[in-house]
Amino acid sequence: MGTIVESWTEWDPLRHVIVGRATDCHIPPNEPALEAKVPEDSDMRGQHGKRPQEMIDKGNELLDNFAAMLEGRGIIVDRPTPTDFSLPVTTPDFHTDSQFGCMPPRDVLLTVGKEILEATMSYRCRWFEYLCYRPLMQRYFDEDPGFRHEAAPKPRLTDADYHDNYLSEKIGVEQRLKWAAEKHFVTTEEEPLFDAADVLRFGKDLVVQHGFTTNLKGIEWLKRHFPDHRVHTVNFPGDPYPIHIDATFTPLRPGLILNNPQRRLPDDQRGLFERNGWEIVDAAQPAHNQPPALCYSSVWLSMNVLALDDKTVCVEASEVYQADQLDKLGFEVVPVDLRDAYAFGGGLHCCTADVRREGGLQDYFP
Ligand code: NVA
Repeated sequence: MGTIVESWTEWDPLRHVIVGRATDCHIPPNEPALEAKVPEDSDMRGQHGKRPQEMIDKGNELLDNFAAMLEGRGIIVDRPTPTDFSLPVTTPDFHTDSQFGCMPPRDVLLTVGKEILEATMSYRCRWFEYLCYRPLMQRYFDEDPGFRHEAAPKPRLTDADYHDNYLSEKIGVEQRLKWAAEKHFVTTEEEPLFDAADVLRFGKDLVVQHGFTTNLKGIEWLKRHFPDHRVHTVNFPGDPYPIHIDATFTPLRPGLILNNPQRRLPDDQRGLFERNGWEIVDAAQPAHNQPPALCYSSVWLSMNVLALDDKTVCVEASEVYQADQLDKLGFEVVPVDLRDAYAFGGGLHCCTADVRREGGLQDYFP
């Protein structure tokens, strides 16, 4: 059977998915967007170059096992084609010495209905990452006459895209939280910027985090691009490094969302959910005090879960508290060993991108 691209939510029954790869993943050299994002106490500060091969092999083994488990449940799995990430990126506007990788397709590809949209991205080292998915996009285009392959305008990513007061090694969490509350993020409003992982799909509604990787112009661009959707902007002022919404706010099924208790959705942004009877519950505590070595993400990858349908959720195997909470909320929990792949770009939601989930477009917030 040929491919069908169609997915409207984060929880409808998953039938076809892309799972990333750790192959050739690099720690990119410093650049403005990364400088602001890498936590000040991180072991990654000042490092760059290809990641250790034994860590890459282990990451790939876990990603391959995850893909095989999904296939065992009847889900079609596709994989990206890595490019040579040691190559520099040079445009008329910027140069950076190496690239990143293709473990987290969720950051790059936004599937909305029958469309897959390549995000602008906001890091220079990730400017060409969409190329890893082009072989798949070409195949989907050939196989599915209804597939819309779209790419948002490539940004210039000059220094004008970044606030220089973020470009300092020592800002301090207090100052960062103050800026987050003021909605002063590293990216400026020079041009539209968004990462796909700042967007959550709730049928007719798209919920988008304004933060380091997505600016207001990026959200305005999404509004104009999806005129039949309602696009909502959200912020989580408790997050000093606000990138990607999927370790902060996790819809699990119609009516239920997990929210990171350190990054609660402010009261004045809850109306949409409350008016429609949705429950927003605090996520369980992570099982770990620290992320694994050389990892960009926080311990809250515990809540970066992948719903296979509205009753079944994949949870990282060591995240026992998160698994227990989901079990109590009535889900079948599928444990997946992925922690040693976190360093390549995230958890179970990050390392996947939807191609097809069953079910059509619904209005959950009428
Ligand atoms: N900002 C997130 C990224 C998770 C995908 C974090 O908590 O690290």
